[in-house]
Amino acid sequence: MKTTISTLLKMHKNGEKFTVLTCYDALFATLLEDCGVDVLLVGDSLGNVVQGKETTLSVTLEHMVYHTQCVARGAEKAFIMVDMPFGTSQLSPERTFENACQLMAAGAQMVKIEGGRIMADTIQFLTQRGIPVCAHVGLTPQSIHQLGGYKIQGNTEIKAKALLEDAKILEKSGANMLLMEVIPAKLAKQISTVLSIPTIGIGAGADCSAQVLVLHDMLGLCTGKKIKFIKNFMEGSSTIQDAVCNYVKAVKASQFPGQEHEFH
Ligand code: KIV
Repeated sequence: MKTTISTLLKMHKNGEKFTVLTCYDALFATLLEDCGVDVLLVGDSLGNVVQGKETTLSVTLEHMVYHTQCVARGAEKAFIMVDMPFGTSQLSPERTFENACQLMAAGAQMVKIEGGRIMADTIQFLTQRGIPVCAHVGLTPQSIHQLGGYKIQGNTEIKAKALLEDAKILEKSGANMLLMEVIPAKLAKQISTVLSIPTIGIGAGADCSAQVLVLHDMLGLCTGKKIKFIKNFMEGSSTIQDAVCNYVKAVKASQFPGQEHEFH
């Protein structure tokens, strides 16, 4: 049976964690859902891991439509969330709606939009017109040049307060979920407690309703410096399927992320 937004909200209500992994093609869509992954995120991280770019900024709507169609062909059960790439959600609510419609037509069940309270009107416009939205706050890779690098967000009292306020405003505007990236675990816990919508964490500690990782990272395929919040699930697993099943089990049992993956 297809996982729907109602399935995920019910899991959240029952205190059952759901699992999210990025996915960019049909083969992995089938493999991941067979291992019990609840949500496939067609992330614009495909710019990094598939296209070999330094940032996600050059990913286009056409790229996202293509990869969404690929994932949708492979996924029978898993819920499909899709990133709105840089420049497609920032102009106006109307233009964003038109762009989001292309992703929904390609197979998305929810779009993800980066940005804090500035995106509230757009999120309201979309959600009032039948497009579920996950808001993405904290480290927002599309703003990398404004943030000055991939680094922790919300780590001072003033910034934490602003992030909490953003989260409340986004929920009020109709956001169906909130993804928090690389923020202190304590702040993520506070936000998850205050909001009634599900929260998805990446580098945000264990107290979120769900966890997400970039597929290639959790399979140990990333090169370069070790990133604190990533766990290589291939270590101790004999196949990719084992690694993914171990990720699902670890998230559901609140064993991942551990304290060693958290920021303070
Ligand atoms: O594009 C992506 O993969 C993401 C995750 C890092 C959450 O947005």
